Amino acid sequence: MTALPLNPHLPLGDQRTAPWYGKDILSVRQFTHDDLKFLFGVAHEMRVMVERVGTFDLLKGKILASLFYEPSTRTSSSFTAAMERLGGSVIPISEVKYSSVSKGESLPDTVRSLECYADVIVLRHPEIGSAALAAKYARKPIINAGDGVGEHPTQALLDLFTILEELGKVDGLTITMLGDLKYGRTVHSLSRLLSLYNVKLNFVSPDILKMPADILEELQAKGVPFSQHTTLDAVLPETDVLYVTRVQKERFENPEIYEAHKNTYVINPGVMRPAKEKMIVMHPLPRVTEIGIEFDEDPRAAYFRQMEYGLYVRMALLALVLGKA
Ligand code: CP
Repeated sequence: MTALPLNPHLPLGDQRTAPWYGKDILSVRQFTHDDLKFLFGVAHEMRVMVERVGTFDLLKGKILASLFYEPSTRTSSSFTAAMERLGGSVIPISEVKYSSVSKGESLPDTVRSLECYADVIVLRHPEIGSAALAAKYARKPIINAGDGVGEHPTQALLDLFTILEELGKVDGLTITMLGDLKYGRTVHSLSRLLSLYNVKLNFVSPDILKMPADILEELQAKGVPFSQHTTLDAVLPETDVLYVTRVQKERFENPEIYEAHKNTYVINPGVMRPAKEKMIVMHPLPRVTEIGIEFDEDPRAAYFRQMEYGLYVRMALLALVLGKA
């Protein structure tokens, strides 16, 4: 989006407390350590408010257009829940085949149409750079809800908030990412965010699904210690956060390669025996076979709690870009 004027509905002093007012959320690269501290403070307040009153009218009268060109359960429904818990409303377009996209309407024209009716647009799209393209044409804020194998910034923000709420800190932790690190946009965004902290990273994947070189170069340039592995055994005992990802069938052109790698790692109670008692297992979900359901009752299984933290982070983001937090 182009730069918006100051919010006419806020006194001048309040503009400073709305640091993302009118801004797009496209990449984790736009966040500093101080930004994250502020955002997570607001997200924590949202958690307290939801637990206390459920729904409140911070965004009453505001409208979110939720535009999903790819399937989603968590991101789309948590943005909808976030908007509704803040008293706002949603235009849901999750089946673009029923919209004018099926008649060949371009992404720029689609967002220029939706912004006539909405105050903010959440976009998931299969192509890298699609959110940035939408933002170039839109006057209203665009929030990137996943652009192909590029980034998924709101997921990384909720992942970091989960670590903070569950373990009380990020600095000093050893975080192990496991699975498809090549196509997994969540681990790309999370690695970049974690580079703002004092952490050690372990990347465990099959050789053909390693973390992309550009992300490793960024980590190296920032002095973040990391190591790469093909098996989990050596790094599991030191791990404070095990971040498991799905091998994504939809990203493979050759189904045989997917079949050969889909079950490389499976987390279950036996595999987790050498892990610390106080650590957490996260997963952006959906999962297929990479975490057995028999692990779900283990207190270290944080992946369902992680989804709930996503609600609070998305409430905070919506309130901030709309100048109300
Ligand atoms: N984690 C995540 O993005 O889930 P959905 O694809 O269900 O939105």
